[in-house]
Formats: sequence, structure tokens, C-alpha cells
Amino acid sequence: MDSKTKILSDKLAKAHLGGGTHRIEKQHSKKKLTARERVDYLLDSSSFEEIGILVTHRTTDFNMDKELYYGDGVITGYGTINNRLVYVFAQDFTVFGGSLSETHAEKICKIMDLALKMGAPLIGLNDSGGARIQEGVRSLGGYADIFYKNVQSSGIIPQISAIMGPCAGGAVYSPAMTDFTMMVEHSSYMFVTGPNVVKTVTNEEVTSEELGGAHTHATKSGVAHITSTNDIECLDNIKTLLSYLPQNNTQTTDKIPFELQDEIRAELATIVPENANKPYDMHHVINGIIDDDSFFEIHKEYAQNIIVGFARLGGRSIGIIANQPLILAGVLDVNSSKKAARFTRFCDSFNIPLLVLVDVPGFLPGTDQEWNGIISNGAKLLYALSEATVPRVTVITRKAYGGAYDVMNSKHIGADMNFAWPSAEIAVMGAKGASEIIFRKEILEAKDPHAKLAEKETEYANAFANPYRAAQRGFIDEVILPQDTRRKLLKAFSMLEDKKVDLPKRKHGNIPL
Ligand code: HXC
Repeated sequence: MDSKTKILSDKLAKAHLGGGTHRIEKQHSKKKLTARERVDYLLDSSSFEEIGILVTHRTTDFNMDKELYYGDGVITGYGTINNRLVYVFAQDFTVFGGSLSETHAEKICKIMDLALKMGAPLIGLNDSGGARIQEGVRSLGGYADIFYKNVQSSGIIPQISAIMGPCAGGAVYSPAMTDFTMMVEHSSYMFVTGPNVVKTVTNEEVTSEELGGAHTHATKSGVAHITSTNDIECLDNIKTLLSYLPQNNTQTTDKIPFELQDEIRAELATIVPENANKPYDMHHVINGIIDDDSFFEIHKEYAQNIIVGFARLGGRSIGIIANQPLILAGVLDVNSSKKAARFTRFCDSFNIPLLVLVDVPGFLPGTDQEWNGIISNGAKLLYALSEATVPRVTVITRKAYGGAYDVMNSKHIGADMNFAWPSAEIAVMGAKGASEIIFRKEILEAKDPHAKLAEKETEYANAFANPYRAAQRGFIDEVILPQDTRRKLLKAFSMLEDKKVDLPKRKHGNIPL
């Protein structure tokens, strides 16, 4: 028995060394943890159970049968994070550069199947040179198997991807189809074609970092939802994100025990400036409403004119979408509409109630916006909110103008409770623009057109730059004092907790993608 036990322990020891000590040292020299170290840090201590540790590839071309590494470049298994079951795969760059072979893909697919069957989140730690070049189409097939399973799992279990090294070519499409993509600054990159191909085809000179580094994807493309300064921070961010999410689409996130106090927040009363043209930071409103320090922002550096993220309200996980008056006056444009639409759909898939904070002057005008499809992109947000059946509550803090009023979770598109602060201005457009159009003749004929315009502006503002016409119609359920907002929202979300909506059967809607 001893000799048989030794065979096993030798094999396991070899497997634990991955591609060998010198490759592990190389990985460390790039300030990267190894796949095994990442899994150990991510999961609760001693909770990881590995599946397929002795799998090897089956390739014989190019003398590959002489190069066998247990695990074949990916560590797969299950364990817990804060006592919740998760499935994880971590590509091991020390084995063939973490490249994806047929068997590597089979290992990933196996845990994807388990995650879906058991209704638990799937976490992928990507660090790979892409398709295993020696395997050709078998590797490509393996990728497609993963893509297919990503789609089958979408909206059923949360899927989180961390990019902690290279992720190039078609390999990028698995993370792109998961719910969240995280990237580590300066050690990860994602692109469909690398700098060399770019140079050949378009003659552009660009570095990997510029083309597809974490900063690029966090600010320009929006591909990265969250960036981290190193591996540890990235893994911590996965744990934090997970704490806001349920295990699957049939569950809600566990509520943290919470004792209700008076819940009046005086600081909310002084945030919106007297002058309606002055900006303010919507983060202050968010932080004034939610449980202390509970905001976890998504897409922080992308389309900053809208803020999205998770928070807790009375211990309950909620999703927040908020116009940001500090950036472009909080206007809706192509990118902010896409950002908020995707977030809405995630929250709706996973039973996370939505709070929408509104201060929006309208949609951004211009050829750039029109030619880039502000019509179909704005429609994404309108569509996503209209189809969301989770509890939906709106607070208009200041401007709610034009089509953007309708889009930003208005009563008309199915919001459950709509509040407005006394500072709210709900109208087709701002007083100046409106007066210039509807009183044009009077202004032109006036002795002093400037004075006339000012007079008409005041007249229009008095009539419309307030929440009361909307409240009279019932489009606003209640005009509330800012300091009372948290208390009102706690009660509203508690009242809506068991909301159920039965929709007619259909294959799926046709969101304007
Ligand atoms: C097999 C690979 C590999 C790959 C790297 N290795 N990529 N083996 N298939 N795709 C091996 C290397 O031979 C090397 O082996 C080890 O991994 C580490 O690689 P290095 O080049 O030494 O590392 P580094 O200098 O850090 O460069 C990393 C890299 C580079 C930029 C990722 O390895 C690279 O360019 N690889 C090829 C990338 C690529 O073109 N992949 C195919 C993309 S197309 P040793 O034995 O020396 O340690 C694609 C299509 C997917 O993926 C389509 C899905 C639909």
C-alpha cells in the first residue's frame, strides 16, 4: 500500500508545482501570483476541493506527448467564499502559458456544468496565451464549448471573470459574456488582435497596455467593470462583489441583520445647490441614503455622467443608477445609456431591487451622438428599465427633463414608487430653452428682448420647474424632504420586498442591441 500511496503523493506533488519552480519564479517576478496562490487566497481557508488535478492533454503532434503537466494549465474545483459555495477555474500561466487545450477546456466546462446544476456562482481567473497553438481546431472547439455554456448560464448564475494576465484573440469572448470583467493594472491585457496585427493591418503603433490594458478598458471601451492595482486587490474585489449577489436567479441576496433607528439624514438637505445650473456630486446623495460605507461602484471610470453600483439599504442589497450632475451635467449619452442598461439587466436577472436617482437635463445633442446611435443606445436603457420586474424606486433630486424623464425609471415605464425632492424640476426642457421657443415672437417684438426673455423664463420656471404638476397627476407619489429620503426608501423597499410580476410567455424580447 505504501508504494501505491507514494505514487499518488508524487503525482500530486508534481501537479502542485505546475510548470516548475523556474516558471513559478518568472510568474512572481512579474508581480503575479500563481494560479494556485490565487485560488488559495480567494476561497475560505481549506475549503477548496480540486477536480481533475491529474488531467493531462492528449496531443501527440510536435512531440507534445513528451511534455505532460498534471492539470494541463488550469486549476478547477469548488469551495466557499464567506461560507457560500462557488465554482472556480484559474488558468496556470506556468503550464504552456496557460494556453487552452481541448482537455483544459473540458475541465472548465465540467465545473461550469456543476455550477449551473447546483445554482452557484462561477468565477474564472484568466491568465492565458490563448488557444494552445499545437492543438489547432480542437482548442478552438474548446473555446466555443465554453462560450456556449457562458450563454446557457447567463441570467441563471452570476459569472465573474478576472483577467490577471494575457487574454487575447477569441479568448476575450468568454469574459465578455460573463456578468463582470475585472482587470489588474499593468499585468493584464485584453484584445481581439494584438499590437503586431494592428500595425500590419492599420499601420498604427500601439503598446499592449494602450491597446488593451486595464486603464484602457476601464475608461475607453467599458469592457472592464472594475480594475485593481494588484492580484490581491482584484481577488478582494471579487469577494466584495459577491457579497451583494445571490447564489442564483431563484434567490435573493441574504439580508444583513439591521436595526431601524430614526433614519433621518440631515446632510442630505444641503447637497443640491440653490442655483440649478450648479453641479454637485451625486455620490454625496448616494452615501447619504445608503448604509454606511456600503457603496460598491461598478464602471467607476467609464461614462462617469452616470453612476451605477451596489449598496445596502437596511442590510438589503440594492442596485443604484444615478445621474451625475458633476460630469456633463449628468446628461444621458450613448455610453452612459449602455452602462446603465447593462447594470439594470444584471440586477433584474438576479432579483436585486433598483434605486434610480434622477438629475438629468436630457440627452446629449450632436452629430457624434446621433451618428453613434444615441437613438438605439438610449432605447437600451428605456427597454431595460421597462422590462425590469424587480422592485424599482425613483427619487428625482433636481432636473428630470424631456425624454430622459421618461427613461429614468418614471412611473409610466413601471417604477413602483416615485419620489421627488422639492428642488425637482420636471418639464419638457429647461426654462431658458423652453421660453426661447414658445415665447419667441413676444421676445423678438419686445423693446428689451433680454428682459423679456428673463421675465418669460421666470414665468415658465414658476409653472414647471417644480415637482407639483407631476405630483398632481400622480406621476410622483410623494414630494419628500431630502433628509427623510433614507427613511422613505427603507419603507418603500420593505413594502416591495415580495413583489411578484407574472409576464406573458415569450421566447425573449428584442432589446435594441
Ligand atoms: C502554446 C504557449 C502559448 C500558446 C504561450 N505559450 N502561448 N504555448 N500555445 N498559445 C508558452 C510559450 O511557448 C512558453 O513556453 C510559455 O507559454 C510562456 O510564454 P512566453 O512567451 O515565454 O511568455 P511571455 O513572454 O510572458 O509572453 C506571453 C504571450 C506570448 C504574450 C502570451 O506567449 C504569446 O504571444 N503567445 C501566443 C499568443 C497567441 O498568439 N495565442 C493565440 C491567440 S489566438 P515555455 O516552454 O518557454 O515556458 C486565440 C484564438 C482563440 O487564442 C479563438 C477562440 C475562438
